[in-house]
Amino acid sequence: MADDFEAMWGALAPVGRSAASGGYFRQPWAGAERELRAWFVEACEQRGLRVQGDGLGNLVGWWGEEHATRPDERLLTGSHLDSVLDGGAYDGPLGVVSALAAIDRMRERGVVPARPVGVSVFVEEEGSRFGLACLGSRLLTGATTWERARELRDRDGVALPDALEAAGLPGPQAGDPDLLAGVTTFVELHVEQGRALVDLGRAIGVASGIWPHGRYRFELSGTADHAGTTRMEDRADPMLTYATTALAADEEARRAGARATFGRVEVVPNGTNAVPSRVTAWLDARCESEGALAELVAGLERRARQRAEVDGTEVRVVAESVSGLVSFDPDLARRVAADHTGGDWPVLPTQAGHDAGILSGAGIPTVMLFVRNPTGVSHSPAEHAELPDCLAGVDALADTLERLCT
Ligand code: GLV
Ligand code: MN
Ligand code: MN
Ligand code: MN
Repeated sequence: MADDFEAMWGALAPVGRSAASGGYFRQPWAGAERELRAWFVEACEQRGLRVQGDGLGNLVGWWGEEHATRPDERLLTGSHLDSVLDGGAYDGPLGVVSALAAIDRMRERGVVPARPVGVSVFVEEEGSRFGLACLGSRLLTGATTWERARELRDRDGVALPDALEAAGLPGPQAGDPDLLAGVTTFVELHVEQGRALVDLGRAIGVASGIWPHGRYRFELSGTADHAGTTRMEDRADPMLTYATTALAADEEARRAGARATFGRVEVVPNGTNAVPSRVTAWLDARCESEGALAELVAGLERRARQRAEVDGTEVRVVAESVSGLVSFDPDLARRVAADHTGGDWPVLPTQAGHDAGILSGAGIPTVMLFVRNPTGVSHSPAEHAELPDCLAGVDALADTLERLCT
């Protein structure tokens, strides 16, 4: 059984791995991610799972449909196979590989599911290519529309419909199967992206919910000029507005017990010997409550405008996406967390976004399992989980699914 997980994990390890950093580049609808989705279809077929896919590339492999006595109460588990730029191996794939391994385990135990059990792969969970996280699950649930999504462009200016076409996908079609039809429970297993489980000394946890979070584009414009001849007092330098706002983000987030990050910046013209004409910086902000998030972002916009007056620059802030508070089904979380050897699994909130949050928002009772991450590092090549903890995760998922599907 351990072999199934390890063999699958080993097969995925080289796909999209950068020799330079050891991290992963698995951006959606391109080389490595397409290879992973092809691998998933094959892994499902080898197991006799019925594979359904839609025009975006979302996939589900179904087990146990033929003998199900409750065919309209489908149980879905799974995660995503895309990564952030230079990401870790575990964020996403751990949930998909563990789901397939959990089905193998249940089969070996002779489990006959009363509810069909599906393993899902949602596309563009990270939003690392088109900027909108959980794009696949948002389109599936109607949390966003194709009219809006089709306008999205990646950093190279490629529009989403063209990226899909290049990947051999037609985009959403009238005849697409509804991959969530009849789904009444969703379980996502994920590597923990913080240190809560390490601190608790536990290998497995259950998520209670997800903090509200959003992505905001700060467009700061000034005047391009010569870096040598332009006197300091004659400049309109948006880099200074940006730098001040980034420091304010750190200060305000610490004060509010929140998280604020400027992780992506574009500078025009990006030349060493020119005062820039424009800086575009993306803020990722997360808070415990929706009110606190709105307050944090408004405060940062205020700080940017105050500094812009000093710099003689202009500020425009665009909210690209904002996700509200997610509370996973508390009864389900309690049931899943209860009664395990060594005591109940701990239940904890997370600050990371997941497809589980989107499905929960669509009214599907949802729960997440977390697997301990020894350093808590994630969205980085250093992201890790020890093999025994991964195997404990497969056990936990198999037990959870068995309890829910029989
Ligand atoms: C996605 O993993 C996010 O939380 O940004
Ligand atoms: Mn993830
Ligand atoms: Mn992630
Ligand atoms: Mn995520």
